[in-house]
Amino acid sequence: MCGISAVTGTENVVQILYESIRNLEYRGYDSCGLGVVHNGEVAVRKNVGGVEEVKQREHLTSMRGKAGIAHTRWATHGKVTQVNAHPHCSMDGRISVVHNGIINNYQELRAELRACDVIFESETDTEVLAHLIALAYAESADVEAAFLAAVKRLEGSFAFCMVTSHRPDTIFCAREGSPLVLGLSRQRNFVASDVNAFLQHTRDAVLLEDGEYAVVTPQSAVVRKIADGSRVRRKPIKVEWDAETSRKGGYAHYMLKEIFEQPQTLLNALNVPRSDVERFAGQMHDARQTYLMGVGTTQYVALTGQYFFSQLAGRFVPAVSADEFEGLAVIAPEDLLISISQSGETYDTRRGVAHAKRCGARTASIVNVMGSSLSMMTDSVIMQGSGPEICVVSTKAALAQMVILMRIALELGRRTGHIDSAVYRAHYNDLESFPDIVQISLNERSGFVRNLAERIVSYANCLVLGRGVYYPIALEAALKMKEVTYLHVEGMPAGFLKHGTLALVDDTMLSLLMLPPPRQRELHQQTLSALEEIKARGGPVFGLVFEDDERAKNLLDHYLELPVVSCTVAPFLQLIFAQLLSYFSALKLGRSIDKPRNLAKSVTVG
Ligand code: F6R
Repeated sequence: MCGISAVTGTENVVQILYESIRNLEYRGYDSCGLGVVHNGEVAVRKNVGGVEEVKQREHLTSMRGKAGIAHTRWATHGKVTQVNAHPHCSMDGRISVVHNGIINNYQELRAELRACDVIFESETDTEVLAHLIALAYAESADVEAAFLAAVKRLEGSFAFCMVTSHRPDTIFCAREGSPLVLGLSRQRNFVASDVNAFLQHTRDAVLLEDGEYAVVTPQSAVVRKIADGSRVRRKPIKVEWDAETSRKGGYAHYMLKEIFEQPQTLLNALNVPRSDVERFAGQMHDARQTYLMGVGTTQYVALTGQYFFSQLAGRFVPAVSADEFEGLAVIAPEDLLISISQSGETYDTRRGVAHAKRCGARTASIVNVMGSSLSMMTDSVIMQGSGPEICVVSTKAALAQMVILMRIALELGRRTGHIDSAVYRAHYNDLESFPDIVQISLNERSGFVRNLAERIVSYANCLVLGRGVYYPIALEAALKMKEVTYLHVEGMPAGFLKHGTLALVDDTMLSLLMLPPPRQRELHQQTLSALEEIKARGGPVFGLVFEDDERAKNLLDHYLELPVVSCTVAPFLQLIFAQLLSYFSALKLGRSIDKPRNLAKSVTVG
């Protein structure tokens, strides 16, 4: 979604402000802009394009000012044009705002403002804010009162920041449904959509909650409730991430860096305190019904979890996509919802949790971002500890979530008596030796992945197929591939193919098979049957296979060999190599890997 940022200090803050939105660019990247108060005036420069491009074109860093706001946009209301880029200003130019989220009643507000002779420049919902504040200020001559009066008129979800020449050193900001965090330091204070904006300068953060606003100067940050103006005193938290982990560190892309970080991600997931895992397993044990919920990649994570719970704990735990949750899940107060989210801010997922809470159910979450909305709104949380994930497409965070779900399933399995302690320990041993295997195989096999990727990109259409737990892995592999290559790639259960999709198979339709270890005889045989069905129709088939799989290797047109590993970690290894395959395919096609077209990290609107 959009990234917003604001800085106020005792010196010129423009360079810092510019860097802050460069650090937030993964939240949206179709246009950007800066608004700075200088010499009693608000100056705004903005345009379409990425942050670096707009900086060059608009000479952003030649601006000057001690307080300013900045924005990087992912268009929702209004086309991607210079006028629709943020900041937006009041007609006298003295009030300037940046916004993330959606103002649902903006049409009514626009009509009302037009009746007061307001002329709109843009098609955005955001612009109403600047005009509402200006009209309220004209009546009260009190900036804070005007800001608050305007905020109270808004319906929907928003986070926004304002600067004004009426109070040159002050940032006003408010939050309802979209993330906003304050960063506090000695020389300057910050407001941003997430901590990556200011991690270089401070790790002391105050999280705003829904229904709160803040008035921030270089020396102070006062948080109040929007409803009644009462003061909120909240201690700053220390953000554990450091600025270094948010940098690219010699890798060509964040995606590659984050794929290669996975040995550490796995260690972190295995270091999630056992007491947390036991707590989740205990809650599941006591619940009438547990649901897993995510959306996009995290829905596929939830689906892998569904297999783990069936197989390891003997419990059917449905995974429901967050966008469909409300209409589908039948929630009772004795139920538990486990939501999964990297950002902890995804609109659909938050909505699903809110629904479960309304039904009186218990809620839990597995999230990566400290202080995120989901971590605050659910009854219990596992912080997955994967560190910042900057590439728009999710890689390392998804792997960590799968491992944590497997740990919970093992714990639950022990409680339900579905597995004994020897099986439990064997699985744990497999997990514990896995980070080293990943490290070695990534180092040794990347070249082979690149070769296979070069063959894949000559096909415009591809099916990714798997059975059992390899089915959600296939779905995730396909999602990764389509996100970064823009090729038409669909994931599907391998057993489903012959029930219709086989009609598409010819020599132009590639199939990519996720093959389980041959030791999983039945699953392996079932997957091989799909391979035979495709080959019989003249379709090319590539595969991700384990080294000891001679039968599959004899049938496949091309394959990537993976080291022989335990069945516990085999799907995870397939996932990692599918991520790398997507990366190299996109590289070959010259795609915008870290910021694919039309996408944004953390989709905070519905
Ligand atoms: C895909 C991807 C998205 C997210 C989804 C949920 O690579 O990143 O599908 O997984 O938008 O986001 P979070 O995990 O932040 O809730």
